[in-house]
Amino acid sequence: MKQSGLPAQFNRMRILCSESAHFTVKKSAAQLGLGENAVITVQTDENHRMSLSHLRSKIAEMKSEGLVPFLIVGTCGTTDFGSIDPIQELAVIAKEENIWLHIDAAFGGALILSHSHREKLNGIHQANSITVDFHKLFYQPISCGAFLLKNGKHFNLMNHVADYLNPEEDRDEGILNLVSKSTQTTRRFDSLKLYLSLKTIGTNLFARLIDSTFELATDVADYLSEQNDFEVLTKEPELNTVVFRYVSDQEINQVNRNIQQELYHSYAAIAKTTIDGQNYLKFTMLNPRTTLKDVIDIIDRIRVLGEKWRKHV
Ligand SMILES: Cc1ncc(COP(=O)(O)O)c(C=O)c1O
Repeated sequence: MKQSGLPAQFNRMRILCSESAHFTVKKSAAQLGLGENAVITVQTDENHRMSLSHLRSKIAEMKSEGLVPFLIVGTCGTTDFGSIDPIQELAVIAKEENIWLHIDAAFGGALILSHSHREKLNGIHQANSITVDFHKLFYQPISCGAFLLKNGKHFNLMNHVADYLNPEEDRDEGILNLVSKSTQTTRRFDSLKLYLSLKTIGTNLFARLIDSTFELATDVADYLSEQNDFEVLTKEPELNTVVFRYVSDQEINQVNRNIQQELYHSYAAIAKTTIDGQNYLKFTMLNPRTTLKDVIDIIDRIRVLGEKWRKHV
């Protein structure tokens, strides 16, 4: 494939991921020349995790239609809900069906350092490849990410020998050139940031930083659940996101959109997302210095704006 491009039957190749997976799965399929339609989304359960029964039936359906499911993308920490697909079970299915398993751990990969949530990554070592973003929960400046392969030999699939840069004799003499393992040629020494952070902060303090954001998310979800004028979707946050909205008896979508926009221009940038066509607001607790009081301050401002907009839209 590296030499001759996509195989003749490329239009039968399919990628499976959950309906909550990140849009970059589709974007990558398009960049690979397979097209976004090669990505088949699998339903999620009530906890926004990929449904295993639906995955199995999708694979069976594809095979009966002569399609070739070749990649399962499991997400460890979906962008909105922080949900974690059942990694161990995905690994079993991928092995049975001889399908490559990729885990998008861009958001959730940092759980590996967590004291309280680490077991949620159980089974991740079985993935054929993993992506991790260090500019998310590892607190590194943008950008800093890694693509990990279970079998290092597969890096050959992206290796290109250029005489001026990484000639064969360099490799034979043990001279390391990371261009052989990268899609980019010229690039920054991003791993230095992570290395120095791990060295100076240490994994224990990292764990405390990360875990404090999970605790804050739980406290905020509990607080919001007690308020009559708020509805919370993530009552028990899986990671550190809280998805909620201000409750208005009319034009609830517009009211929440207006709240987010006005807050953005006046006080704080909070995220908005759409779930089943409904607008929701979202807190992603990344900063370990943020306190419940800071968040309640924002919630109070949301309430004031909500009361204003429900009368005006
Ligand atoms: C689950 C997940 N995967 C992938 C990405 C994309 O990461 P990046 O912004 O580093 O391209 C994100 C970004 O939000 C994400 O949440």
